[in-house]
Amino acid sequence: MTLEEKIGQMVQIDRSVATPAVMKNYYIGSVLSGGGSTPLPQASAADWVNMVNDFQKGSLSTRLGIPMIYGIDAVHGHNNVFNATIFPHNIGLVNSNFRDPELVRRIGDATALEVRATGIPYVFAPCIAVCRDPRWGRCYESYSEDPKIIREMTDIILGLQGEIPSGSRKGVPYVAGKDKVAACAKHFVGDGGTTKGINENNTLIDRHGLLSIHMPAYYDSIIKGVSTVMISYSSWNGEKMHANRDMITGFLKDKIKFKGFVISDWEGIDRITSPPHANYTYSVEASILAGVDMVMIPFNYTEFIDDLTHLVKNKFIPMDRIDDAVERILLVKFTLGLFEDPLADLSLTNEVGKQEHRNLAREAVRKSLVLLKNGKNETDPLIPLAKKASKILVAGSHADNLGYQCGGWTISWQGFSGNNYTRGTTILAAINSTVDKETELEYLENPDSQYVKSNNFDYAIVVVGEPPYTESAGDSQTLTILDPGPAVIINVCGVIKCVVIIVSGRPIVIEPYISSIDALVAAWLPGTEGQGVTDVLFGDYEFTGKLPRTWFRTIDQLPMNVGDSHYDPLFPFGFGLTTHQSIVSRSKSSGFKGHPYATLILIFVLIGLYFQGNLLT
Ligand code: IFM
Repeated sequence: MTLEEKIGQMVQIDRSVATPAVMKNYYIGSVLSGGGSTPLPQASAADWVNMVNDFQKGSLSTRLGIPMIYGIDAVHGHNNVFNATIFPHNIGLVNSNFRDPELVRRIGDATALEVRATGIPYVFAPCIAVCRDPRWGRCYESYSEDPKIIREMTDIILGLQGEIPSGSRKGVPYVAGKDKVAACAKHFVGDGGTTKGINENNTLIDRHGLLSIHMPAYYDSIIKGVSTVMISYSSWNGEKMHANRDMITGFLKDKIKFKGFVISDWEGIDRITSPPHANYTYSVEASILAGVDMVMIPFNYTEFIDDLTHLVKNKFIPMDRIDDAVERILLVKFTLGLFEDPLADLSLTNEVGKQEHRNLAREAVRKSLVLLKNGKNETDPLIPLAKKASKILVAGSHADNLGYQCGGWTISWQGFSGNNYTRGTTILAAINSTVDKETELEYLENPDSQYVKSNNFDYAIVVVGEPPYTESAGDSQTLTILDPGPAVIINVCGVIKCVVIIVSGRPIVIEPYISSIDALVAAWLPGTEGQGVTDVLFGDYEFTGKLPRTWFRTIDQLPMNVGDSHYDPLFPFGFGLTTHQSIVSRSKSSGFKGHPYATLILIFVLIGLYFQGNLLT
């Protein structure tokens, strides 16, 4: 390969600047639809296949005919095809028995199929960040605050890429076939540990802390054959990760033997300097020398190509570094079968949004919901809600809004933009189809308390939460419920019996309202299948979900994670009532009473005490 051909392989450009001619003339190795890309409005699977194939034909017409690889952020299902199944975001996937790798694996299977159906063989998922502070705008992309849980959740890679055959060489990427995609563990490393949860900020932690909290899930991902790793925008103790040779080459590649390719984040290398792009040639040199193999450019690709060519020709970057990068990229392309089968066909297009996937998403939703409170006193549980009533009030901004329900990374970067894009069931629609035919249902987004008082409602379902957001747009130092949510809670729950459903990407401020609420449910960001919410709300299924992270009382407690000396949560890590469980008081200092096996342990203790008592008399 010539230097030009090699450097082209290292370039990933945005869809909006890609054409068959650009692919051909610059030997471009990869194209993406990413965060900053303009979404394709209402694109069908067939539209996608045709577009991806067009770019691919450009790549195939080069001297060596090396296929390009197209990547997309399918972090909870395909994020930009009409009618996709949108699964709950990661925060909602640690459920039931508190760890359910089998469920995430099936979600990985379904996601791979819906993505591959659109001709795309590569996803920038899973996010294996350990979010240590819910003020971080990407907290919902993190499965938990607990590194052990995230290690298990890396099983999603086995769903996305396929089960790695036993005896495979450690660190070598593996993708099973044409219905699977190359995965990407991100963001390496320490992205979830930044000060005050500020995105792209500094993670201040010693090496032991970094390796024991933020690194373990990378070991698991590599053992499971993950194909690529994306670098974090953040710094570790002041050093930008995109320039950290010790961690990327020294640790990831040399020590833990990752053999796939390392990709930068979107304009990630530009941000090595402050302000970004201040000295681009330096950024190119520092990132490539650090071990970045593919650069998500995404627009100014000629500048990158010129700079890297200059740096190699003048021996600032040795050719063997370029060769290493290209070998890794080609290895993933070989593994994916792109050399044998570079052009996608239309045979999988019916997989997108199919009923089986929607059923799986609905199952995931009902397993993800956490029942935090059920009744103001032990004899008066509100859940399961009565399907038969004379009149039910549904209130709040999040009851009938699919965009809010899906959250960020859905269709548009900052969240769903219009109900025409994909299909799904809002929580309101799900309530409507669940209650008895004779039951009257009234929906008011922001009712006034006088109206609520004078209307003889049997009870109310209030659905409030956060607006959609991604990345830095989601950083929040207040973590409040979106207005007028707090007023809706007061106006409704202060007057009649109510359950409050919080639709949010993380724990948010709830303590000021909790005494007026009869029942409280954390629904996270459930995605397109709102019926998963009503499945458990109306008692067709048990509530089984447990908190994957600590629910704080007040913002000034943050950061606060299980095991911290100042641990005094509103609801501890691991807490979650089952439907028929009577109200248990919540432990202040530990998760014991909220522990999934607390009831069982208590029964054993009581039996033990009983026999002990008998023996003693
Ligand atoms: O994959 C994402 C990453 O997680 C955040 N920045 C943009 C990338 C591509 O969209």
